Amino acid sequence: MGHSHIVSIINHKGGVGKTSTVVNLAAGLARFDKRVLVVDLDTQMNLTHSLIGDLPEEVPCIADVMIKNPIAISEIIKATPIANVDIAPSGESMVNLELELHSAIDRERRLMRAFSTPELQKYDFILIDNAPHIGLATINSLMASHFFMVPVSAEYLPLVGLKHLIRTIDQIAPYHPSLQNLGYLLTMVDRREGISTVVEKILRETFQTQVFETIVRINTKIKSCPQKKQTIFDVESARGKGHEDYLNVAKEFLQRVETSRGY
Ligand SMILES: Nc1ncnc2c1ncn2[C@@H]1O[C@H](COP(=O)(O)OP(=O)(O)OP(=O)(O)O)[C@@H](O)[C@H]1O
Ligand SMILES: [Mg+2]
Repeated sequence: MGHSHIVSIINHKGGVGKTSTVVNLAAGLARFDKRVLVVDLDTQMNLTHSLIGDLPEEVPCIADVMIKNPIAISEIIKATPIANVDIAPSGESMVNLELELHSAIDRERRLMRAFSTPELQKYDFILIDNAPHIGLATINSLMASHFFMVPVSAEYLPLVGLKHLIRTIDQIAPYHPSLQNLGYLLTMVDRREGISTVVEKILRETFQTQVFETIVRINTKIKSCPQKKQTIFDVESARGKGHEDYLNVAKEFLQRVETSRGY
């Protein structure tokens, strides 16, 4: 592939499936023999917790790489229980990231700078998990990315909130014109429920081919993954619906990257 494709997983609405998508998409991509680095840019540290557990306080994390030169990103990367998936974790100093970035020089490009090392070229994909609000960390994520991808849970309010997300992206566009939308991914879909069908219809009518054809169905097995430090591929057999959904998400993700590589 040559260089890593960097993708921000973003939605400022909370609880829409961002972290679950980062974990299970990364595991799905690994099943297609891709090497993946996942990056936890959320102070909630859910991604780090789901994959490797909390970092000891003194261990540097992604915030230290962005704030304190000269910690290199390669110094904080850790292996995860998923083969071919590594993590740049979040830790204690993440709490101060927004404040510290505020007065930092080139504050929107700190993550981009951290990524510009040949040591990351071994990864086919870098997936960045973002917090449920737009701050300097999210702006850093988008500025460092080639693509963004938006999980949307199949409920009414997350759909309404997309307007604000699009406004943020529009504000970034003049500074990063090659940033591409990889697509909206519907999560927690329950087609027996009227609202799921309505939300899917509105999303497809509004954003058309920008919406992933693949949907992620509602599945309580996905909820059990973080506590077990496992992915849907570990907790379900190959016939399980979450297993099937996230494998299909990975497949469509690869196709979408392949057809939009013009950056
Ligand atoms: N397809 C699904 N079916 C059922 N539950 C799901 C599904 N996907 C995610 N969940 C659960 O929904 C909750 C929110 O998911 P997740 O943490 O991935 O969202 P998030 O967007 O990262 O949240 P936050 O904005 O707080 O970071 C979690 O408890 C998760 O296990
Ligand atoms: Mg999350």
